[in-house]
Amino acid sequence: MLRVGVLASGGGTNLQAIIDACEGGLIHAEVAVVVSDNERAYALSRARTHGIAAHFVDASDKEEHERRIDELFRDAGVELAVGAGYMRILSPWFIRRWYGRLINIHPALLPSFKGLDGQGQALAYGVKLTGCTTHFMDEETDHGPIILQAAVRVKEGDTRDTLAERILKVEHQILPRSIDLFEKKRLVIEGRRVKILPGDTWLGTHQYPDVFYSEGY
Ligand code: GRF
Repeated sequence: MLRVGVLASGGGTNLQAIIDACEGGLIHAEVAVVVSDNERAYALSRARTHGIAAHFVDASDKEEHERRIDELFRDAGVELAVGAGYMRILSPWFIRRWYGRLINIHPALLPSFKGLDGQGQALAYGVKLTGCTTHFMDEETDHGPIILQAAVRVKEGDTRDTLAERILKVEHQILPRSIDLFEKKRLVIEGRRVKILPGDTWLGTHQYPDVFYSEGY
């Protein structure tokens, strides 16, 4: 059973998707610990509801914040760290300690629309397709080797929120699937690329009809 540590700053719907996938037996993993930089993050309540260790770790001192996260994750035997709506930039120190077992979800098709509000950036730019990306985190923000992507249509009349909601539903699919692929040891980092070894697919069972998923999903 893969032990997962989750970093979250807000509502935690991506965390919930991971918990549900674990509890439903969809992925052979368990959330061992959740850490937030925001003591009011609903993600912490979600964890506690499911009997998962949940810690607010103050981030006013960045080095201390990251050292504490590292300690909590190591003490919990975390094998894969996941940024699930975690809004802070992790330092090279932390990235180096966890590289290769630290992944993130971004609500845009990287390298487009990095940083905050990828959904709003895409809408403002006038793209016809946007989506979401999971990737290994490296020392540059929203830059590490890409694991999965899924393309979502921008629809006439979309607002930032209607578009974000449509993307979020797909985030809740590709993030658990990325954890699943990691647990199955099907992810091989080769420079900037991630090779996904052959195996099963979630297409057909976990698929929206008008979403285009990358190889390996
Ligand atoms: C998601 O779109 C995530 O990609 C972004 O924040 C949104 C909310 O995430 N970082 P969550 O509901 O807190 O998981």
